[in-house]
Formats: sequence, structure tokens, C-alpha cells
Amino acid sequence: MLQSRVKCLAVVGLGLIGGSLAKAVKERSLAEKVIGYDRRDSEAALAVRLGVVDEAAPDLVTLASRADVIVLAVPVGAVAPVLEEMRSALRSDHILTDVGSVKGEIEKAFISVFGEMPANAVLGHPIAGSEKSGVQAANSALFENHKTILTPVPVTDSHALGVVAALWRGMGAEVLFMSVAHHDEVLAATSHLPHLIAFSLVDTLAGADDNKEIFRYAAGGFRDFTRIAASDPVMWRDVYLTNRDAVLKVLDAFDADLKKLRSAIADGDGQTLLGVFTRARAAREHFTKMLEGKAYKTDMANNVTYVAGKGGPVCGDIRVPGDKSMSHRSIMLGSLAEGVTEIEGFLEGEDALATLQAFRDMGVVIEGPDRGSVRINGVGMHGLKQPPGPLYLGNSGTSMRLLAGLLSGQSFDVELTGDESLSKRPMERVAKPLREMGAEISTSEGGRPPVKIKGGSKLHGIHYDMPVASAQVKSSLVLAGLYAEGETSVTEPAPTRDHSERMLRGFGYPVDVNGSKVTIEGGHRLNATKIDVPSDISSAAFFLVAASITPGSDLTLRHVGVNPTRVGVISILKLMGADIELSNHKEVGGEPVADIRVRYAPLKGIRIPEDQVPLAIDEFPVLFIAAVCAEGETVLSGAEELRVKESDRIQTMADGLAALGVGSEVKEDGIVLRGAEIGGGAVDSHGDHRIAMAFAVASLRATGAIVIKDCANVATSFPSFTTLANEVGFNLRTEETA
Ligand code: S3P
Repeated sequence: MLQSRVKCLAVVGLGLIGGSLAKAVKERSLAEKVIGYDRRDSEAALAVRLGVVDEAAPDLVTLASRADVIVLAVPVGAVAPVLEEMRSALRSDHILTDVGSVKGEIEKAFISVFGEMPANAVLGHPIAGSEKSGVQAANSALFENHKTILTPVPVTDSHALGVVAALWRGMGAEVLFMSVAHHDEVLAATSHLPHLIAFSLVDTLAGADDNKEIFRYAAGGFRDFTRIAASDPVMWRDVYLTNRDAVLKVLDAFDADLKKLRSAIADGDGQTLLGVFTRARAAREHFTKMLEGKAYKTDMANNVTYVAGKGGPVCGDIRVPGDKSMSHRSIMLGSLAEGVTEIEGFLEGEDALATLQAFRDMGVVIEGPDRGSVRINGVGMHGLKQPPGPLYLGNSGTSMRLLAGLLSGQSFDVELTGDESLSKRPMERVAKPLREMGAEISTSEGGRPPVKIKGGSKLHGIHYDMPVASAQVKSSLVLAGLYAEGETSVTEPAPTRDHSERMLRGFGYPVDVNGSKVTIEGGHRLNATKIDVPSDISSAAFFLVAASITPGSDLTLRHVGVNPTRVGVISILKLMGADIELSNHKEVGGEPVADIRVRYAPLKGIRIPEDQVPLAIDEFPVLFIAAVCAEGETVLSGAEELRVKESDRIQTMADGLAALGVGSEVKEDGIVLRGAEIGGGAVDSHGDHRIAMAFAVASLRATGAIVIKDCANVATSFPSFTTLANEVGFNLRTEETA
């Protein structure tokens, strides 16, 4: 509701927009009275008859003298004459606003009348319309769930701005604020250019000799595409004449791109066509997400809450989605390879999709993903192009750290950005050694993203003794090493996942591994290959624990990647007494794979061997749940890395457990947990996908329902989690809010 209700709202110009606004204000009682004026008496009379306005004013001076808020809903060219005509009755406590689709010209009109922009004028533009016109088409729901842009200037009175914003919100619109110039540029691209093209296309085809044929057979595509060519011609003529510069700029860009497509068709250059179409399709599918600055794709709403009731036992035969680490690397190496790389089992989670989009933005033609299949038309080691803007990597630390290395060796500048969680994570761990290799790379405050890389640096090989056991740091340096002169070697303090080394070999690139030392020489090439990504053991881990802690469970997980650098979760659970059997061992593309059967077994607490920590680094949130369901004490140490993951996983888990009545002893580098009863309650995942899924697993043994907040990021690694979980016996419900 308005703080101070508008007494009399006056609308000048009772066309579709003015009429709809008057009707919406009246129906929603946003003003005590709504009056209107239209230079066509018949329209004004019709507006009264249709109940769109309470009364029609005979002239503009009478209208202004009675109103406290005046809305100008007239063509741009009529704004100055209307203001002149009502000027004698205008007071400084009037609030003036408008609905025009070009703000620069309207601002000029106000200035031409008043000498400057008056403080009580708030220019606005509802992004809503219809092909219908006239007051008889007035629709009070026209602005509902649409955006209205207000373009205040420095002198704009805040009370006036508040009243106008509240009116629009009252009509169901979402109110956005931007500068006049920005508004006109944005609208030129998103509205004015598409209308121009639609008018032009219909005109071209209507003028063709066989036009009857064309219109007779015009199917959905033509009709959909040209719907907007049915809009009001006079209004659109005015739009182009008044927003000339912004429209010409975007029209020139479009013209140049269209010419490129023309040449591609003329030259039979399918690669260019495919590149444009795959990029455009991905952008079209996901542009709302991009606007929100969210990770590239998600089927989830912004806020997802899990309500996890009593479920179990956990039984069935399932295959969890593809490995996240391998999915990232398959896109990176496939893009730099020569030839077409075909990937199966690709994880269509937001993190891997962020990597995929980054390479699309650098000019790589990538087809899919389509149910796990991706085809990459590799551009070769030196074929990447500068992206049009910063590469947005969502929640994905792997994308940012690995790309930092890979992009240090390119000829172009690039900036890497991420979401709120990624923006807090340490990046100097890769930037520092990359600088030693000759990279020009900077991080932001506190060594965090955005990361900026200057192109054209000459990299040279170094030897780096990693202070932390991190596969991301190792991989980042190895990828930079592809572009470095001489040899780059990295020694790790403890074994970490070796997917980069294995996959490089799969692409025919020589890599030497000697104990804890990896060595790579720059200057070789990658040859396209086929990659079959196995299921992610980190996703399987939630089900390994779920079945282990729930009496009566018997579950088989198929085709899981069981690379020795990833199986810490199996070793730790087995030490705790879990009943886990591996069978059907095979090797797929250089990676070991097996089926895993897990049955319920009573667990006991253990001291987790520190050498297992890097091998189970992503599995601790759910292992903490196993520990709470075990008899006795479980001690984790040497795991300070958990504090710099998607959240501080030691503290976030301890807080969540406390909310369920489970105590813990938090240490700087680990935690001590004792077997305890898990109660019901509400926990916050802090946007960390693995924390959210871990507490969903906890619900299988909880005495009451667990409500888990902030779960949308489960889509980063395991988009189908709730579906699969419910299939095998969980009782999970999701609540989504936009
Ligand atoms: C990953 C390495 C690990 C892991 C992350 C994926 C990788 O990070 O936590 O989820 O793909 O290389 P660190 O290497 O920083 O431990």
C-alpha cells in the first residue's frame, strides 16, 4: 500500500498504456480518484463509459488543478506541448511522471519547457504492451509481473520517486532503476531492434512476388517471430526518430553479424553457423539466469528449501551423474585439441556448465549437452579467442583455478568472476606460482576473485613444491605448463586426484608421473578423443552413507569412478565397519570404474587416517553424518582445507548438527564427533551443495523432520539429487521460491 495514498491521479492520453494504468490504479484503489484527458473527446468519453477513469477532464489546466499525480501517456512528441498547455496550473507539489519508451527525448522535452529537469518529475517506462491499441483494449493486469524502469536524475525528489515506485508496485510491476542513457541503450537492443527487424521482414516478404504463398504457408516460426510487427506504426516511427543514436549503434552491430552469417552460408562454412547457433541457443535458454548473475543453467528456483522427513530403507539400483572433475577437464582439453572430441556421461550440473559456457565464450563450437552427450569442435592449442566480457564461473572453484592456469598462456586479456561463495575463496594459491612462471595475473582484495590475467605473457617452466595437497593447484600449473617453455613440474605433499594427468595422456599429451612429482613439457599438441565420464564417487558418497546408516538398506550404484585418488570415502567407511562391495571392475578411458553394492551395517567411530583426507576431501560433510550415526568417537584432523571450500565445511556442519541437538568439538583442522541421536530442526546449508545433501542423508536417522535452507546450489554438482534420493527411499520434498 502507498504510505500517503494518492488523492487524485490524472492520466493524459487514454490509449492502451494510459488506459491500462488508469484502470489498474482504480481497480486496486491506489488513488482515491482517477481522472483522464484525451485530445480525442470520443476516447475520453469511452474511457468514462468503460469505467477506465472516474471522470474525464475537459482540458489540461482543469486536469492539472485537480490532480496530485499526473501521468503523461502521450507520444514522445506531444510531451512538451502538453506540459506547456498545463503549465499555468502546475505546482511544485505535483508529481509528474510518464510511460514513454524513450527517456532521453522526454527528458529533453521537460528541460525545454522548464529550463531544467524538475525535482518533482520521475520518468518511467513500463516494459509491457500488446499489439492491441486504444482505450477499449485497456487491461488492468497489463503490468503485473512485468518490469517498470524508472530513470531518476540527481535532482529527483525522493518522495516523488517513492510515490511513483509504490504506484507501479501496487499495479503488480517489478520496479528497476537506471540512468536515462542506459535505459535507452538497453531498450534499443532488447526492444527497438527486434521490432525494426520484424517490421522489415514482414515488409520484405509481403512485397515478394509470391507473397500469397509465403503467408499461406507461414507456419509458427514466421508468425511468432513477426508478432510484434502488428504494433502501432506511429509510435514506432517516433521511437526510431527519438532514440536514433542508440538504435543505429545496435543496428550496425547486428548488420555486421548478419553479413558474417551471409558469408558463412555463401561459403558453405557450417562451422561458423554452428558456432553462432549453439551459442545463441544456450544464451536464449539461459538468459534469465545470466541476468541474475547466477550460474549458467539451473532448473531450480533461486531459493530452494528441502523438507526431509523420515525415510528409508535405502534400496535400489541406480547410476548417479557424471564426475564433476572429469567433466570440467573434458571440456578444457577437448576445446584445445585438434579435431572433434565426443563426450558421454558429461555432468549437466551448473559448475561443469560454467566451464562449458566459458569455452563457448572463447569461440569454441560445442554441441549439446544432450543427456550427457557433448561434441566439442576443438580449436587447437592456440585457437581460443578473447571472450566478449568477463568469464562468469558461478560457484565453481575448479573452473576458476584451472582456467587461471590455462588462460595464463593465451594471447588475450581475460577476467574471471564468480558468485558470492566463489568470490570469497582463495585464488593466490594458483596466482602466486603462475606469476613465478611469468604470468601476469592479479587477484582482488584478500587474494580473492575477480582474477585478471594479462595476455601475451611468455611462460617458462618451474618446479613447484605445493604447500597444500590440492589437485586444483596442481592442475592449474600443469595446464599453464602446456604453454610454458621447457618443463613444469609439481610435487604434492600427499596424493590428490590425478584426472588431469590421466586425461592429458588420453589426448595423446606426454605427462611424466614419478611418485609425488608430475612433469609436463610445453609445446606438444592434444588430439581429439572419445571420453566416457563415469559416475561421480562424490555424488555416490551420499548414497554410500545413506545405505550404511539406515537399517534394512541394500543399494547398488553403477559405473562409479573408483580412481585410487578418489576412494577415500570407501576406505574410511570400511574402517568404520561399512558393508561395501565393489564388482564389475573395468577401465574406461584410462579411469577405473566399478559397480558398488552397499548394505546397512552398524558403524563405529574411528580416528580418520590423515593420508585419507585429500582422497575424501569433498566427502566430509556426509562422513560427519556417518560419524554421528556410529558408536563411539570419530576424530578428524589435518583437514583445514575444509574451511575454504564452498563454505567453511567444519563450522557449517557443526552449526547444522547443533541445530539438530548434536554436539561436536570443532578444531582448527578438523572435528571430534560422537555417536548421538539426531533430532529434527532447521539447518542452513549456506549455499553449499554438499552440506545440503549431507543433511538430507541425516534425515534417514533423525527423530523429526529436517528443514534444510539454501539448497539451490545442489544443482552445481547433482541436479537430479532429490529425484534419485526419493527413488531409493528418501522422503524429500522441495519448496521453491523465486
Ligand atoms: C577438485 C579438487 C578438489 C575438490 C574439488 C574438485 C578438482 O579441490 O575439492 O571439488 O576437480 O581438481 P582442491 O584441489 O582445492 O582440494
